[in-house]
Amino acid sequence: MESALSFRNVSVRYRPEDPFVLRGISLDIAPGEKVALLGLNGSGKTTLLYSAVGLVPFEGCISVCDVELSRATERPIRDNVGFLFGIPDDQILFPNVLDDISFTLECRGILREEAQQRVLPIMKSLGIETLATRSPHRLSHGELQRVALAGALVSNPPLLLLDEPSAALDPVGRKETARLLASLDTAMLIATHDVGFACLVCNRFVVLANGVIEEDCPSSERINRHWHESTGNANA
Ligand SMILES: Nc1ncnc2c1ncn2[C@@H]1O[C@H](COP(=O)(O)OP(=O)(O)OP(=O)(O)O)[C@@H](O)[C@H]1O
Ligand SMILES: [Mg+2]
Repeated sequence: MESALSFRNVSVRYRPEDPFVLRGISLDIAPGEKVALLGLNGSGKTTLLYSAVGLVPFEGCISVCDVELSRATERPIRDNVGFLFGIPDDQILFPNVLDDISFTLECRGILREEAQQRVLPIMKSLGIETLATRSPHRLSHGELQRVALAGALVSNPPLLLLDEPSAALDPVGRKETARLLASLDTAMLIATHDVGFACLVCNRFVVLANGVIEEDCPSSERINRHWHESTGNANA
């Protein structure tokens, strides 16, 4: 594989009569590269993640794992991507946590028993092994976020697209999740406002502003400074 994710001059608007919310985005993520996607509310982070799996209409060219995204390829492309939605409720389908996480593997033809054996270590590493028989609909926000992340990780996809993975986590869970993501050799693009979390996981930082890439750099020091300046030292 040459590239895990490639955007060539990509622009997105939700409807033809709307203004573009992403404009002329070009971005390449190498296999195994971990990239943070930063930017203020409404800058286009979630839209960019959605466009990478064909959930919003786009102009330009997007490739995932060297396959160009089109109507014909979007299904196999989605099989190659672990996606964590910002609102985890959107991806919970089953009445019990273990079945819900195992489902991705069963869809790939892995028998239920083996699927569940593979799920358990991931649940353990995310601190949710005790939730296996619980209903996903009765979990706390942070528990639900961990369950959804386990679902994104379990098939060991070559690309992870994670929308605010640390948003609902407590400080312990946040650190453990960062450690887990940092230990994977999977390419990932992580939309987040949590610069500290991004610095623990990522070695490249892309900043979106009003739908364009404002900054793309490998230095967490520089990104910290940039972030504090652009937010008026709100987090300093
Ligand atoms: N379904 C939609 N239809 C029309 N416009 C939308 C839709 N979803 C998002 N937008 C607009 O697209 C722009 C980018 O939104 P997006 O959700 O990508 O931002 P974001 O960077 O993820 O913000 P946040 O930090 O709040 O999550 C915003 O102006 C938003 O209002
Ligand atoms: Mg968002």
